[in-house]
Amino acid sequence: MNQPIHLVVNGQAHALTVPHHAPLLNILRNDLHLNAPKYGCGLGECGACTVLVDGIEARACVIPVKGVEGRHITTLEGVGTMDNPHPVQQAFIACQAAQCGYCLNGMIMATVALLARNPSPTQAQARSALAHNLCRCGTHLEILQAVQHAAVLMARTRQNP
Ligand code: FES
Ligand code: FES
Repeated sequence: MNQPIHLVVNGQAHALTVPHHAPLLNILRNDLHLNAPKYGCGLGECGACTVLVDGIEARACVIPVKGVEGRHITTLEGVGTMDNPHPVQQAFIACQAAQCGYCLNGMIMATVALLARNPSPTQAQARSALAHNLCRCGTHLEILQAVQHAAVLMARTRQNP
């Protein structure tokens, strides 16, 4: 049954009428037309659907939309734009860290969350943080290089805002 709900996504408030048990991913993609979060497994296992909820990475395919009412949801669309990419996006481009690109939403969102809590992760910490984000194309080495490069870019931005 559809019911009213208020969501804050990428800083914008939305009043919607949707089934409260629907996965957040469905609402983001189908109702708000935010298509960066991807449907991969639908089981919370691959990371393709990753968003941030109050700054913490979360798997939008397994979160009922009612569970995030009143929280701040950030999708990749709220992280950077084509004209003004986030340093993490710049790093992924510089390191050519993509093949098909399907995992990239999750990889980038997980990296944004990682660098927010740990601005200079070791290789082992980066590997651990992304361990549950799957890449079927085997781009892991380039992705891990991108994480380190993003940390450098973000440190430079902090020093020269
Ligand atoms: S689609 Fe959500 S974790 Fe795979
Ligand atoms: S680049 Fe294809 S799944 Fe990661």
